[in-house]
Amino acid sequence: MACKRGALIVLEGVDKAGKTTQCKKLVQALQQCGRPAEMMRFPDRSTTIGQLISAYLEKKSELEDHTVHLLFSANRWEMVPSMKKKLEQGITLVVDRYAFSGAAFTSAKPGFCLDWCMKPDVGLPKPDLVMFLQLSPSEAALRGQFGEERYETSVFQRAVQQKFEQLMKDPSVNWQVIDASQNIEGVHNNIMDHSLNAINTAQNQLLGELWK
Ligand code: TMP
Repeated sequence: MACKRGALIVLEGVDKAGKTTQCKKLVQALQQCGRPAEMMRFPDRSTTIGQLISAYLEKKSELEDHTVHLLFSANRWEMVPSMKKKLEQGITLVVDRYAFSGAAFTSAKPGFCLDWCMKPDVGLPKPDLVMFLQLSPSEAALRGQFGEERYETSVFQRAVQQKFEQLMKDPSVNWQVIDASQNIEGVHNNIMDHSLNAINTAQNQLLGELWK
């Protein structure tokens, strides 16, 4: 490795937990302290696959459940070459949702098991840190109404939360649960501490393979 690699940092959590706000703040704070960092998000709606997913989420098209699951995974795999390149260049990637959302959301649908849902993402670049922004359904409700997109109902989000809890039992992944009920700065400080630790550890380690 020519230079020290960047860290792969993922934020997951239920809707309204503040993932996107926190990803942006983290990238800004890392850059300000001289650590190269970029934000990514999944689904990445800018690609051809991402546009199919976006139309499905906006309820402008219908897709069979297995098919859309595989498209979400393909949307991650298509970004892997550029992710690896950036990490090798020493850039830390801060990612808004990853394979954990993929497995949690599909397995919350009837007839799907978590194991099947994880399979297409086996071998993806393994995050050095996954922070789960924890917020109770009642606190999430206080933050306002859900949007219009598919999956944005409290019943479905509760099922998703349970699937995340199952995924968090996996000790092969560096999960950190963050109390998202604090104010924005409090949550940010917590996230920044975990991220700096992960960046320092990752620079001396090879990038792993997820769920392998
Ligand atoms: P967003 O609101 O963060 O853009 O996420 C889009 C929706 O897609 C959200 O409801 C979570 C869901 N999702 C999946 O079902 N599978 C996936 O693999 C990902 C990344 C998101």
